[in-house]
Amino acid sequence: EDVEKGSFDHYMRKEIDEQPTAIAQAVRGRADDGRVAFESLSDGAFADVDRVQFVACGTSYHAALYGAQLLRDRGIPSRVFLASEYATTAPPAGDGTILVGVTQSGETADTLAALRRGRSEGLRTMAVTNVVGSTAARECDETVFIRAGPEIGVAATKTFSSQVVTLTLLAERIRRDVTGSHSEAAPELLDALSELPSAVGSTLADSSAESIAERYGDSDAYFFVGRGSAHPVALEGALKLKEISYEHAEGFPAGELKHGPLALVTPNTPVFAVATGAHTEKLLGSIEEVSARGAPVIAVAPRSEEAVAEAADDVLWVPESHPELVGLLANVQLQLLSYHTATLLDRPVDKPRNLAKSVTVE
Ligand code: G6P
Repeated sequence: EDVEKGSFDHYMRKEIDEQPTAIAQAVRGRADDGRVAFESLSDGAFADVDRVQFVACGTSYHAALYGAQLLRDRGIPSRVFLASEYATTAPPAGDGTILVGVTQSGETADTLAALRRGRSEGLRTMAVTNVVGSTAARECDETVFIRAGPEIGVAATKTFSSQVVTLTLLAERIRRDVTGSHSEAAPELLDALSELPSAVGSTLADSSAESIAERYGDSDAYFFVGRGSAHPVALEGALKLKEISYEHAEGFPAGELKHGPLALVTPNTPVFAVATGAHTEKLLGSIEEVSARGAPVIAVAPRSEEAVAEAADDVLWVPESHPELVGLLANVQLQLLSYHTATLLDRPVDKPRNLAKSVTVE
């Protein structure tokens, strides 16, 4: 590989560590003077947008879920489709629809096919990608780069953070073009974005994820729950763990536990409760549900989430941050958890069986 591992045992661990830099690069020059601007997009570029559709796969799908929620919270109707399902769902679209493909590589066949389908139906298309010159970047009407630098580990880590940060800026930018002003949240959000690299740095300096991996490394299955923006974080936590450790892991919206997944919960299935973003108080009920079945609960939470932390058996702490960004810090803890679980099991972390960095067949 052209990129060196340096002192790290694995590219994945190196890339987890690179997140402060990657995030700073994604923000650099794009949020100066309290206004969001992208080098590739003229002022007012989204003025006519009345609906955003995202297509993506895998980790990029989870980043898109996070981004769509930010847009909806700003009054812009947004939906996310698994790219492989876009061809079968025929979602309604009109002149004001923009179809955004979120794809690290810019080469995922399912995502390219969905973008091509949208384009053939006259939709405006945009790529949010890491790779300059990629097929998605070349074929879409517009491109925004996430600037994460090369990612070698098959399991996406730093690119998830860079995608979410870029989509956060994009949500503010679309909102400004459509309504004439940034959201009320913007000043605090942009400040928090500039402080995010150091918050990620503090999260990386915490060694708790390794102890939790040791404590729960012999479990039957692992569940991850969250609400709102913590839901994509829960999904991503489960995906990362299953990809590189081969352990059974599932993510659910916390409220859905009682509608089925609870049947799987036992004293040997730890439940990770992601307590970030809005409505975390509602997690308490979910924690009670699983605790009553004897499952250990590990909260992933900032210190301000006292009630959730108290109800849990263990806590993976994250620094305080803006409610719309703190989920990214929880995700960093869950990346570390997956990494340590996989290394304890002696798995080939950078090249998990049956998986490819970029899947170029539909
Ligand atoms: C593969 C990789 C995943 C990745 C997904 C989407 O399945 O193993 O890590 O999230 O493709 O890739 P993309 O390049 O489109 O983001």
